[in-house]
Amino acid sequence: MENYIHIIGCLRGRKIVLGVSGGIAAYKAAALARELGRMGADVHVALTEAGARFVSALTFQALSGHRVWTSLWDGSAENGMPHIALGRGADAILVAPASADIIARLAHGRADDLLTALCLARDCPLFLAPAMNRQMWENPATQRNVATLRADGVIILGPDEGGQACGETGPGRMLEPGALCEALLAFFTPRLLAGRKVVVTAGPTFEAIDPVRGITNSSSGKMGYAIAAACARSGAETVLVSGPVALPAPAGVRRIEAASALRMRDEVLAVLPGADVFIAVAAVADYRPAQTAGHKLKKSGQPMRLELVPNPDILAEVAARPDAPFCVGFAAESQELDAYAENKRRAKRLPMLVGNLLADSVGGDDNTVVIYDDAGRHPLPRAPKALVARQIVEHLARLLPAG
Ligand code: CTP
Repeated sequence: MENYIHIIGCLRGRKIVLGVSGGIAAYKAAALARELGRMGADVHVALTEAGARFVSALTFQALSGHRVWTSLWDGSAENGMPHIALGRGADAILVAPASADIIARLAHGRADDLLTALCLARDCPLFLAPAMNRQMWENPATQRNVATLRADGVIILGPDEGGQACGETGPGRMLEPGALCEALLAFFTPRLLAGRKVVVTAGPTFEAIDPVRGITNSSSGKMGYAIAAACARSGAETVLVSGPVALPAPAGVRRIEAASALRMRDEVLAVLPGADVFIAVAAVADYRPAQTAGHKLKKSGQPMRLELVPNPDILAEVAARPDAPFCVGFAAESQELDAYAENKRRAKRLPMLVGNLLADSVGGDDNTVVIYDDAGRHPLPRAPKALVARQIVEHLARLLPAG
């Protein structure tokens, strides 16, 4: 599971009822329960009779830290009504896996076991993660039921395509636990950037010396990717122009790969029209070799001189445009953060800049940053990059002129 989705705040303290119905994907529901708990959610599990044939109640009890509900006739619940007790105060119900059978029963408003009764009696959003054999999914009856549920406001997550436990290949695989967590997280994240377009740069650049060698730096891209993910979750149309990194594109983000500074600038300028915000997180090389050799350079045993020429400053160029979007810069310094960061902000005429000390951030999963704007300096507490990214988005949404 990617680190960027851990403990991001918007799921913290939410009561999530996880319904587990009968299907081989039920084994993934165990990882899902654990992941939701790690993100701070208060997870309660309702297990159907068929679901319990795949994974035991004890597993979910250990992972959620709460008793697991299996029967509509459990007299020990509040008022003797488990379907009411369990749903009370729930922020969402997520049925994962949702078998063809439970989808059919939900579409018809049945209440003949605990999970269906719970869904019928709910006053919170219902998410279903279908998981079944390809033919069962494609059957018109299932498609009809899914359309009915969608029309009723139920949110269908997936299914995915790919190899299935039955040996077939096609649609019907349950989405992975990480993708399901991400969907819930996005649902609960306030849409602070709805209707906005954001362009983000991230990662290092690679300035080629010859076809196999080049100048680069140790930027992991994690902060920029966390910012892009936070923008997308906040409802922005998000384009991420990325240098070479080993990270998957965040959900809902359009990624464009650009290895060198010159390429990154061209890609940024191409996607900039219509952008409301530009966030430059990339560690762009300040210089590139004056020439790139067409063939691999051979060693001669003699000293070698490499002539470097300055790269364009992408952020300064964008910020200086007459139609400039709201520009956010980053500054990583090894000392005197306040002075250097504020100088950079003024030199590039930025309304907002995020500064950090190199020792606090590079490559790691946590970061300690200070936000600089016209009102002064705003230090944020040390936190995982995903949470820092969320706070940066909240800050910029407050400064952004009304759209
Ligand atoms: N930046 C950019 N294009 C460049 C260089 C930097 O867009 N060619 C952006 C970075 O993405 C970051 C900010 O500018 O948002 C960093 O500012 P800069 O002054 O270039 O930082 P350093 O390169 O670290 O500067 P210095 O080496 O002087 O500390």
